[in-house]
Amino acid sequence: MKIFEVLAVIIFTVGFLEAANNGVARTPPLGWMSWERFRCNTDCTTYPDSCISEKLIMQMADHMAADGYRDVGYEYVCIDDCWPLKTRGADGRLVPDPARFPSGMKALADYVHSKGLKLGIYTDFGYMTCGGYPGSEFYLQLDAETFAEWDIDMLKLDACYSFGEDLKYGFPAMEFYLNRTGRQFVFSCDWDWAMNDQANYTHMAEFCNMWRIAHDMEDYWDNVQLVIDVYANNSRNFSDFTGPGAWADADSVIVGLYGLSDDQERVQFGMWSMFASPLLLAADLRSIKNSSKALLLNKNILAINQDPLGVQATLKMKLAQNKIYVFLKGLTGGRTAIALFNSDYHGQPVRATFMLNQLGLTNGKGYSFTDGFTGMARGKYMPATEINIDVNPTGIDIFIATPV
Ligand SMILES: *[C@@H]1O[C@H](CO)[C@@H](O)[C@H](O)[C@H]1NC(C)=O
Ligand SMILES: *[C@@H]1O[C@H](CO)[C@@H](O)[C@H](O)[C@H]1NC(C)=O
Ligand SMILES: *[C@@H]1O[C@H](CO)[C@@H](O)[C@H](O)[C@H]1NC(C)=O
Ligand SMILES: *[C@@H]1O[C@H](CO)[C@@H](O)[C@H](O)[C@H]1NC(C)=O
Ligand SMILES: *[C@@H]1O[C@H](CO)[C@@H](O)[C@H](O)[C@H]1NC(C)=O
Repeated sequence: MKIFEVLAVIIFTVGFLEAANNGVARTPPLGWMSWERFRCNTDCTTYPDSCISEKLIMQMADHMAADGYRDVGYEYVCIDDCWPLKTRGADGRLVPDPARFPSGMKALADYVHSKGLKLGIYTDFGYMTCGGYPGSEFYLQLDAETFAEWDIDMLKLDACYSFGEDLKYGFPAMEFYLNRTGRQFVFSCDWDWAMNDQANYTHMAEFCNMWRIAHDMEDYWDNVQLVIDVYANNSRNFSDFTGPGAWADADSVIVGLYGLSDDQERVQFGMWSMFASPLLLAADLRSIKNSSKALLLNKNILAINQDPLGVQATLKMKLAQNKIYVFLKGLTGGRTAIALFNSDYHGQPVRATFMLNQLGLTNGKGYSFTDGFTGMARGKYMPATEINIDVNPTGIDIFIATPV
């Protein structure tokens, strides 16, 4: 009998518990994650300021607390791959590399908590992590207990070096062991992506607070466009399975890295918010440029992301020869966020021409508009009024329509 069959028997006998009901992530988790910017850099001799270490994590926590991020809701500081030693300890436990985490994980969690923040960590369901560190296969329970003893608040479980068909046992098994520790964890599953779009969304939403829906975010525009297309396509209606406690994860927010223009940064941040994706920042918060920081702290956009209804935006139509994507997201109070994303990259704005009744907004007294980024009033429109809006190339406008 394979280990997964053994686990499945044990677990289905005891009865599964619902991650989506574990009391956390009722709105999309907000925070920072090390992977996209700092990768698997473990060379603290050559790169003392950018290796994966407790110093890096503490500095990011300091900036989240001091520079306004915490105050607008960013909460989770997440260590991704490459934090432990390459071999487990004699007791079987994962060992944080003592050269890079000399104070240990419990002390780091205490430090992060003292800043009013929470700590996330990473492991992998396979026998190795993607970066070649020990995986949690055969150690799920011990690792869950270890993370709980360290007072960790969020776990990302990756899927490298594992088999797709085992994941439907593996992710629920880890959720079971996390639940058994009695400590609340946001449980982040790299599941759908690893299953090549074959995963059972009902099942995932039952056990995971968030699951990756597309490939890793890398630092260039085409990658942002590709992820938007995944959400536009909404394969097997995955938007129907997301909501409070269970989110589709579009991966890191690369605003403030190297690859995007100002307009493209607005697109990524605006669309990830429309999608109700977790917002895990990648930027080096010690040196981020002011305009990117201001965008990440934009309370109007964050309010769209954090709206308690937890609706994931879906594509309503395309305009202007399919250059303009129109996404709608239902908000509390009968309001609707309307995003006009211009996917065209020729050097001129493209005009979006539409009427609200084409979007299903038919309130007889019309709608007042506010700008999704600035919060400024942008006029009042009747359902059959023609609206014309010029959107920058690889740019976005967002409006909140409130029934009058
Ligand atoms: C464990 O699962 C039960 C049942 O879903 C839930 O009520 C409880 O809050 C969970 N506990 C933790 C710590 O997640
Ligand atoms: C998907 O998961 C749900 C909940 O665990 C289960 O009831 C259903 O049978 C699964 N569907 C398929 C096609 O496996
Ligand atoms: C779009 O979704 C369909 C199924 O709904 C799937 O077959 C197709 O591969 C998807 N395409 C993209 C680009 O995601
Ligand atoms: C997705 O949703 C649409 C509209 O609600 C429906 O017509 C379609 O059958 C659904 N597709 C699947 C694969 O569930
Ligand atoms: C960025 O903002 C800081 C603080 O508000 C200010 O001191 C600094 O001059 C600004 N930098 C640039 C390049 O505008």
